[in-house]
Amino acid sequence: MALFMSKSISGFSKLSKAKKIDWIVTTYFSNSEEARTIIEQYWNTDAKIQQLHDEFIENTITNYYLPLGVAPNFLINDKLYTIPMVIEESSVVAAASKAAKFWLDRGGFKTKVLSTTKIGQVHFIYHGDVHKLRAFFKHIKPQLLSDTASITKNMADRGGGILDIELRDKTKDKKGYYQLHVSFETLNAMGANFINSCLEQFAKTLKDGAKSFELFSDEEKKIDIVMSILSNYVPDCLVRAEVSCKVEDLTESDLISGEAFAYKFIQAVSIAEVEPYRAVTHNKGIMNGIDAVVLATGNDFRAVEAGVHAYAARHGRYRSLTHAKVEDGIFHFWIEIPLALGTVGGLTKLHPLVKLALELLHHPSAKELMQIVAVAGLAQNFAALRSLTTTGIQKGHMKMHLLNILNQCGANEMEKQTLTEYFKSHTVSHRAVSEALHHLRSGPGVSG
Ligand code: HMG
Repeated sequence: MALFMSKSISGFSKLSKAKKIDWIVTTYFSNSEEARTIIEQYWNTDAKIQQLHDEFIENTITNYYLPLGVAPNFLINDKLYTIPMVIEESSVVAAASKAAKFWLDRGGFKTKVLSTTKIGQVHFIYHGDVHKLRAFFKHIKPQLLSDTASITKNMADRGGGILDIELRDKTKDKKGYYQLHVSFETLNAMGANFINSCLEQFAKTLKDGAKSFELFSDEEKKIDIVMSILSNYVPDCLVRAEVSCKVEDLTESDLISGEAFAYKFIQAVSIAEVEPYRAVTHNKGIMNGIDAVVLATGNDFRAVEAGVHAYAARHGRYRSLTHAKVEDGIFHFWIEIPLALGTVGGLTKLHPLVKLALELLHHPSAKELMQIVAVAGLAQNFAALRSLTTTGIQKGHMKMHLLNILNQCGANEMEKQTLTEYFKSHTVSHRAVSEALHHLRSGPGVSG
């Protein structure tokens, strides 16, 4: 019987998976057997695959599925891709696919990686003479590099590693606050573990070295290391993706001319450049595409989200990540975003679906993946803005959402087929679907 109250537990992490589930279902659920059934329903039938998933995180009780969809027809630098997307929101994959198809006939997407530098910092407190600290940094810098040689060797052999270490005086922002600000090239790895290992060694070398630095007083020798961690703000790990075509080629139907479309589209982008309320939604639409590919390829979408939004606010106001203009009769639409991604390490060798997604993308390097992800964001924004400035977003979104509504209303397969046909020529809303289903069930059916 469920206890209907939260209670704390000590040693939960040490329980077996079965015992964890026992405790959860009996503590929190009125129908504990039903809860257990749902939890177990989502286990993989292959015990090895389930164990793999169990071990990705801690206290795993089951799997939480998200659909993996694909968006074909992406022509990127003259190479065709089908892009894998993991997302729960209807219409995103359709929108990406539609934008890909649109640009396929207009030269496709052009992309370029602008830079690939990542950043890590050792944050520390020092209350002594800044000149002595600078002298100490100069003295210790070669040792910072030599003490991390065993960590950096493989990366350096592949052409990456530590690019530079700077001492930064942050005392204007906070009393006694300094940092080692370190830049890295991590090639095909996202690099979090590599960067953090280097930083923790720097911190140790810095602290130990200070103890015996002759110019320091006894107080100055006590450098206080606060923390050592990579930054997810990567404004120098930048990629650009662009589409362009003659303004008249933007015409798709008689509904709106290429010129009128370009005008409205550019207005929409420029509103997101000046109005933060709009910019956030505009960029959310971009992240629909970006996160979906980042997730499908086993990358850290929280890191990407944090870095991208910080970049959007880098000039002191949150603004659009995409830009558009018409120049000499040519419509240009582009995005420039920071993306720290990896195609080796992390989940890339572990998760069977991540491996599959990377193979689908022709085993991209991290640089190629940056370009593909940027394109997914640009395509998504193009599709959303095209709908917003022409038909309105609800038409297409609700068309794609129809199956969800039908499922929510408990429609069977026959009913779904009939109503999908019916709603090809009727406006979808929750109420309209529920009424149409009611009519269908109560005899006369739906027509018109
Ligand atoms: P449509 O013109 O009705 O579609 O568009 P269609 O049936 O004529 O098909 C045309 C093509 O669209 C297809 O070509 C597909 O590429 C794609 P085909 O495969 O036939 O050769 N397509 C589909 N792909 C997969 N499955 C489907 C499917 N249907 C069409 N079922 C569409 C319909 C939804 C694509 C269009 O209305 C659209 O692009 N809408 C925008 C939807 C969107 O942006 N959704 C994102 C969620 S809304 C949001 O959160 C962001 C937002 O707030 C951001 C912002 O404010 O900026 C909007």
